[in-house]
Amino acid sequence: MAERPAPQAADRIPLPGSDVSIPPMGVGTWAWGDRSTWGMGGYDTSLSEATIREAWQASIDAGVVLFDTAEIYGDGESERIIGRLLAEDPRRRAERLIASKFMPTPWKLDVQKHLVGAARASVDRLGVEAIDLYQIHGPVSLRSKGALADALAAAQAEGLVRAVGVSNYSVRETRAIDAALRARGSRLASNQIEFSLLRTMPEKVGLLACCRELGVVPLAYSPIGQGRLTGKYSAANPPPGGRSFSDHPMAQVDAIVAVLREVAAAHERTPSQVALAWTMAKGTVPIPGAKNRAQAEENAGSLGWALTDDELARLDGVALFGKRGLRERAWQHG
Ligand SMILES: NC(=O)c1ccc[n+]([C@@H]2O[C@H](COP(=O)([O-])OP(=O)(O)OC[C@H]3O[C@@H](n4cnc5c(N)ncnc54)[C@H](OP(=O)(O)O)[C@@H]3O)[C@@H](O)[C@H]2O)c1
Repeated sequence: MAERPAPQAADRIPLPGSDVSIPPMGVGTWAWGDRSTWGMGGYDTSLSEATIREAWQASIDAGVVLFDTAEIYGDGESERIIGRLLAEDPRRRAERLIASKFMPTPWKLDVQKHLVGAARASVDRLGVEAIDLYQIHGPVSLRSKGALADALAAAQAEGLVRAVGVSNYSVRETRAIDAALRARGSRLASNQIEFSLLRTMPEKVGLLACCRELGVVPLAYSPIGQGRLTGKYSAANPPPGGRSFSDHPMAQVDAIVAVLREVAAAHERTPSQVALAWTMAKGTVPIPGAKNRAQAEENAGSLGWALTDDELARLDGVALFGKRGLRERAWQHG
């Protein structure tokens, strides 16, 4: 049984076209301030700014210093919460890495004006000088990849953002924007895609290989299937809220969780930690969401050890390809 190299919190992955380096894992902050999907201020009465502060601190204590947000999360509230957390300890600002996103809705035809304006507004909400990684949220703009590259390069030239990336881009779209950025003296740093044992599509269609070839860092979102791979949900106890990513029948998920439990037991780990270790073994940087200290600590515990090749193969054997539906055609090309 060959041992894989264990990712460590202190490891750093350089983001092309910038002076930014990120750890092998980050934290997703969609739930921070969001009502409809994650229930803050709604169905999840335990989620509050106090529990978020604990998740933030526990992650940082574990060396997980990359936080992924977006202008649309909680209609700006996720960025405002992060801004308040950063303001509590300004001396350590340089050690925290913040990734945010621009929503390129089709009506934003003057995409450079809209993207640069949105980056400025995010900078203000976060209270930072520059956003460490700024991503185009999805492939929904009506403008060409050249126009989008112009917009990203302009935000970078203005010093609003340090590295630039995309999200939900296909192989073809990734190649096109990477080439357009190179032609403008910049580089595509990352492509953030849904990747987990419930959605191996990015590996199967060659997107991960494409990212490797171009030097683009793949960030894995919903890496624990929006909570479905933690083991706390099941067919008898489905997840609450409007969690529509990887919304497979829970009986199918239960079969995968059963294997996660067996692999976890061999390492004295948990199903979530095995699910996250699998995403890192595939060369992606997972950004699991965390609502409180316990979740942040548990997720950080996926670092510092690794799956064996046999375990990886066993997990590959039960993993799902993912869905191909309306959302995939409209939004999730990658
Ligand atoms: N670019 C895009 O289009 C896009 C789309 C989706 C997400 N994202 C990004 O990716 C991040 C992560 O994805 P996600 O939040 O959708 O899904 P996820 O990371 O797979 O799941 C996060 C949820 O699982 C539960 N959880 C987390 N850790 C746990 C643990 N150790 N034990 C038990 N439960 C745990 C929590 O919800 P409960 O406690 O309520 O179960 C948490 O909110 C987002 O926050 C966002 O930054 C990007």
